[in-house]
Amino acid sequence: AGALRGVVALDGPSGTGKTTVARKLADRLSAGYLDTGAMYRVVTLAVLRAGVDPADSVRVAAVAADMEFTIGTRPDRPSVTLAGEDVTAAIRGRDINQDVSAVSAVPAVRELLVTRQRKVIDELLAEIGGIVVEGRDIGTVVAPDAPLKIYLTASPEIRAARRRAQDSAAGRDTTHADVLASVDRRDRLDSSRVTSPLRPAEDAVHVDTSELNIDQVIVALAELASQRGMLN
Ligand code: DC
Repeated sequence: AGALRGVVALDGPSGTGKTTVARKLADRLSAGYLDTGAMYRVVTLAVLRAGVDPADSVRVAAVAADMEFTIGTRPDRPSVTLAGEDVTAAIRGRDINQDVSAVSAVPAVRELLVTRQRKVIDELLAEIGGIVVEGRDIGTVVAPDAPLKIYLTASPEIRAARRRAQDSAAGRDTTHADVLASVDRRDRLDSSRVTSPLRPAEDAVHVDTSELNIDQVIVALAELASQRGMLN
């Protein structure tokens, strides 16, 4: 399919298949991959481990400023560390899902992470030329100049079903109603926050994944990248 040149910004709510799509697309186009949600998750983990109330924005910001974390950019091998410890699995826990919206609504946290995200993007562009970046504000804030912006959507029912399948694959037992409520709640919080709320960029291409499987989505996105002259 050729190698990706430039940034693909991939935004949308949870359960749209965003992470799977981003990783597979990056892998297929020999590009780097950045999961910005993982960054908000690792900050949330640090906040909870420090015993800080996620609603206490001053202390949350202080934790974020002091912590040391790394995030891998290989699509085939995601990895996140906190103070040297592998927390790739720990950041997917239910406690993190519960509090990550509060932490990611703190402007100082966003400022810090957006700066870090832009740095990773610049490094990857210099090193391998292309990167797929997934999140909520990539097309609007992090990489507004990205030549391809995608906004993935899917019906709430489908998103909850996908989230639940992920949970049970990871050994976490849930009910459909619980997952639907949790997905709904997080979308509401993420869309209504004051700083960089979840919303599509004006020039984003909307892709509804409700009726598509992963491969169909990948083919559609690779085609869009190709049309924009981003593949070589
Ligand atoms: O994509 P995810 O579910 O791992 O994201 C976790 C949370 O992080 C999500 O509820 C909102 C927040 N987030 C954000 O505010 N901005 C981003 N660019 C990515 C994620």
